[in-house]
Amino acid sequence: MVRQHVNPLSRFFQLPLELPAPAALFSNAERPIHLDIGCARGRFLLALAQQQSEINHLGVEIRRPLVKAAEADRQALGLGNLHYLFCNANVSLEAWLLSLPPAQLDLVSIQFPDPWFKKKHHKRRVLQPALLRSIAAALQPGKRFFIQSDVLAVIEPMVAVSEASGCFSRPTGDARPWREGSPLPVPTERETYVLDQGLPVYRVLYERNEAPLPSLEALEQALEAADNSPISPPESS
Ligand SMILES: C[S@@+](CC[C@H](N)C(=O)[O-])C[C@H]1O[C@@H](n2cnc3c(N)ncnc32)[C@H](O)[C@@H]1O
Repeated sequence: MVRQHVNPLSRFFQLPLELPAPAALFSNAERPIHLDIGCARGRFLLALAQQQSEINHLGVEIRRPLVKAAEADRQALGLGNLHYLFCNANVSLEAWLLSLPPAQLDLVSIQFPDPWFKKKHHKRRVLQPALLRSIAAALQPGKRFFIQSDVLAVIEPMVAVSEASGCFSRPTGDARPWREGSPLPVPTERETYVLDQGLPVYRVLYERNEAPLPSLEALEQALEAADNSPISPPESS
């Protein structure tokens, strides 16, 4: 049985893993990389990698059994432009992102992250200031960062910390506050479920601009401020 949620702050998940370099992940390691954080069972990337064969897709996921199953699917299809890795994105991604050749990272997506509604659990949410800073450091100007969720109380702090960084701008013409549709040609599993229910999806696409990286402290303050004055009312669970 695969657990519904794991606590990313538990000791077990704090050990940094050395993630393999692109050459060990993809058959053509030079291609642009799309990094999907929290890819779960990986069916979205499995379909996307077949449509976008010119891009290398990497899914990272903290629930190891899902990664194992996703990797088995990938291997069965013989896809050399896709890989799944088990890790805690908040612990193991920074070093991997730093080690990438400049300009290779093309897109980072965080789609329908676990909500962790209770305030005391907000630190378990995946887009923490340090991760946002690592993403901003790894993306060259013009490269993209895409976030989407069906929970306003989750996406609003993600938007707050992304915009407080000063490193991201929205493409001209994108609707505000939420983008009309996904820039990706394949919906994720959660996205399909939400859309089938007729529920709204809140999306923002960012492009890295030329601004320098902010301090971690500035981002932490921005997130705390967003946490203390949420735009949407808190949900109960
Ligand atoms: C609600 S699911 C969404 C899955 C998929 N992105 C979708 O849209 O269908 C969020 C996923 O993020 C994973 N996750 C949560 N925290 C994580 C972390 N710190 N590092 C890596 N994966 C994480 C969870 O295990 C879960 O599979």
